[in-house]
Amino acid sequence: MEKPIKIAVAGSGYGRKVALPVYAELAEFEPVAVWSRRPERARQLAEETGVGLGTGDFDELLSVPGLEAVHVATPVATHVRFAVAAAERGLHVMCEKPLADNLEGARRIVAAIRSAGVAGLVDYELRMKETRRQVIERAREIVGRPRMASVSLVQSDHADPDSRPYTWAHDARLGGGRLQGYGVHDLDLLLEVFPAVDAVAAATDVGVPVRRADDGELRRVTAEDAYALLLRFRGGGLGMVSLVATARHGRSDVIEIHGDEGTVRLDGDRRVWWGRAGEELQSEGPLNESSTEAFKRVARNFWAVVREGAAPEPSLQEGLRVQAVFDAVRTADIERRWVQPEPVTSYP
Ligand SMILES: NC(=O)c1ccc[n+]([C@@H]2O[C@H](COP(=O)([O-])OP(=O)(O)OC[C@H]3O[C@@H](n4cnc5c(N)ncnc54)[C@H](OP(=O)(O)O)[C@@H]3O)[C@@H](O)[C@H]2O)c1
Repeated sequence: MEKPIKIAVAGSGYGRKVALPVYAELAEFEPVAVWSRRPERARQLAEETGVGLGTGDFDELLSVPGLEAVHVATPVATHVRFAVAAAERGLHVMCEKPLADNLEGARRIVAAIRSAGVAGLVDYELRMKETRRQVIERAREIVGRPRMASVSLVQSDHADPDSRPYTWAHDARLGGGRLQGYGVHDLDLLLEVFPAVDAVAAATDVGVPVRRADDGELRRVTAEDAYALLLRFRGGGLGMVSLVATARHGRSDVIEIHGDEGTVRLDGDRRVWWGRAGEELQSEGPLNESSTEAFKRVARNFWAVVREGAAPEPSLQEGLRVQAVFDAVRTADIERRWVQPEPVTSYP
């Protein structure tokens, strides 16, 4: 093993729960600094995790001697600011998904990374879960051309105003909403199998319109907690992506991919089924759904990109591809019409 990458993590949510513990565990990384908006929280985190610096000053984070990479895990609307600043200092960037809250912002991040000549990845880690990896690999192998593909998520964690505290994730202006939380992961999965989307239609809803903040006050929720998306694939076939976060009874994700040559399904018991036309479906599972294990795969790839020149996965180009469909979804929802995603030019 070559020397570990010295990395800083910006963000005390996902950054603390998943990214920092994984970087600390893997021999490929050495976490050296952590950023929180609250300096005292940053110092406490650094102490708890044995990281050298905890700071609320992003510039101080970027100035750590020997720092090589930054993981940006802050609210979506702030990714551009953090990721561009890191790239301009010549640091490699692991950016949380979606790259930004619109395609223009995502392109600014990609342009900054490209002109700095550093490595960049976007953390679409859900595709690295064992369940979803199997779905993608089997689908590529056997389904053929798309007929109908669907991803259906049913969650109960937002069913009441007190069931999850109010954060930026409930504020549309900060890029919140369940579409940025889960919808982009599901679009990423479908695009891995059927990349050519001709047009999208979309409807979003706020089922629980107020949510209690940590200060005890009720705040108005402006970002969706439910959505239903329709996709038309170029050359034929439809896709459906839906989520309800306010269900009274949640269940595991269900994915179905029906093509002209075969079928792949992830059922609610984490079992993957597949078969070609004329064959009985066979299955494997229950498979591992751990986010931490999935992120380890992304992190190891990041190391290989930086140290060995491996191909990034998930790549910035794939991040732009999702972002273009995500932008079209937003427009389709607001204007209540079918919208064609903007083509994204290729990024090496
Ligand atoms: N890859 C995945 O599967 C996955 C899973 C979850 C989240 N994420 C992504 O991770 C990113 C962060 O999400 P999260 O759930 O970790 O969020 P979070 O816990 O609410 O906040 C993350 C960080 O942003 C700071 N912050 C909060 N509001 C801010 C504001 N208005 N301006 C600047 N900073 C602010 C927080 O400050 P404090 O430290 O003071 O609290 C915290 O350090 C998002 O891009 C999200 O999509 C990815």
